[in-house]
Amino acid sequence: MKKVLITGGAGFIGSHVVRLFVNKYPDYHIFNLDALTYAGNLENIEDIEDKPNYTFVKADINDEKAMLNLFEKEAFDGVIHLAAESHVDRSIEDPLAFLKTNIMGTVNLLNAARKTWKNFDDKLFYHISTDEVYGSLGETGFFLETTSYDPKSPYSASKASSDHFVRAYQNTYGMPVVISNCSNNYGPNQFPEKLIPLCINNIQNNRPLPIYGKGENIRDWLYVVDHARAIDVIFHSGRVGETYNIGGFNEWSNIDLVKELCKVMDEKLGRPKGTSEKLITYVTDRAGHDLRYAIDATKIKDELGWEPSLQFEEGLRKTVDWYLENEAWLKNITSGDYQNYYNKLYQDR
Ligand code: NAD
Ligand code: TYD
Repeated sequence: MKKVLITGGAGFIGSHVVRLFVNKYPDYHIFNLDALTYAGNLENIEDIEDKPNYTFVKADINDEKAMLNLFEKEAFDGVIHLAAESHVDRSIEDPLAFLKTNIMGTVNLLNAARKTWKNFDDKLFYHISTDEVYGSLGETGFFLETTSYDPKSPYSASKASSDHFVRAYQNTYGMPVVISNCSNNYGPNQFPEKLIPLCINNIQNNRPLPIYGKGENIRDWLYVVDHARAIDVIFHSGRVGETYNIGGFNEWSNIDLVKELCKVMDEKLGRPKGTSEKLITYVTDRAGHDLRYAIDATKIKDELGWEPSLQFEEGLRKTVDWYLENEAWLKNITSGDYQNYYNKLYQDR
C-alpha cells in the first residue's frame, strides 16, 4: 500500500485533494497533516474521516522533531505539500508568519524527507505553489513555466523562496521533486477572507462589498476541484524536476466578477435585480496590488491531457449554492476571531 502525506488538508484546496485521493485510491493510505490554524477546519473533510485509508495528524510543519518522527515511522512514498499561510492581505500585516510557515516550514519538511528517505527510489516531493511568484502582468501576455520569478508581495516572496528551496533540494541532494503554480482558486470550503466567499458572506449579511482601488485588477479563476484533478495528474504522471502551470483560461476584473456574483446572489436569494450591487463599495487599494495574473496552461494540457472541466458561470453557481446550503459552516468559521480580523482590515479603508 502506497503511503501519501498531504499537508494542509484541512484547508481550502487541501481538503479537496485529500477527498479526491482517499476516494479514488482505496489502495493508498492518505495521511493529512495540518496544524489547524484559523484557516484549517476539520468540517471540510468530515465526509471522509472514517475511511479506513485515511489518518489525520495534527502537527505543525515547523516542528522539527515531530516531522522527523513521523517520516521515520511512516516512510511515506510521496508528499503533496499544501500547508501554508495563503492570504496576501495577512502577509502585508505580518510577513514573518509567512516566512516561518511557507519558507522555514517547507525546508523543515524537505529535511525530514531527506534525512529519513533511505534512497529516493520511487519517492516524490510535490510542492503546491502559486502563479503569484511570477509577479504582475501588464494588459497582455501570460505566465509560462519559463517566466522569471518576480514576486511582489510578502506572500508571493515566501512562496517563491519555498519553490527555490524545493529545486535546490533536487539539485543538491538529488531529491525527486515536482512543482505546480496555479492561478486563483474558488469553490466550496474557501475561507471568507478571499474575494469570492467574502462577498458571498457580506451579501447575505447586507454588508459592504469592498473593492480595492478601481476594481480593475485581473485574476484568472479556476474551480478548486479542477485544481485537485490537476494535482492528481501531476503527482502520478508529471515529469520529475518539472514545473507545471495550472490555470483556468478565465480572466475577470474584480469589479466584473463581483457584479456577476451579485447577479447570481440576487437570483438565488430571490431579491430584486440590482439589490446586491448596491453594496459595492470602493475602498483604498491593497499596498503593492498586482495588476494582472494570467496563466498559459498549455504545457499541462499537451503533456498530461489536463484542462479545466467546468465553465466559470457553472462553477460560480455551484459555489454560491454550496455556501447557501452550508450556512452553519459559514457561521462557525466567521465566529470568534474572524470579526476582529475583518474589522481591523477594513477599518482604515
Ligand atoms: P488555506 O489557507 O485555505 O489552507 C492552508 C492550510 O494549511 C490550513 O488548513 C492550515 O491549518 C494549514 N497550515 C497553515 N500553517 C501550517 C503549519 N505551520 N503546519 C501545518 N499546517 C499548517 O490555503 P489554500 O488556499 O487551500 O492554499 C493551499 C496551498 O495552495 C498553499 O500552499 C497556497 O500557497 C497554494 N495556492 C493557493 C491558491 C488559492 O487560490 N487559494 C492558488 C494557488 C496556490
Ligand atoms: P484574493 O481573493 O485575496 O486573492 P489574491 O490576492 O491572492 O489574488 O483577492 C483577489 C482579488 O480581489 C485581488 O485583486 C484583491 C481583490 N480584493 C478586493 O478587491 N476586495 C477584497 O475584499 C478582497 C479580499 C480582495
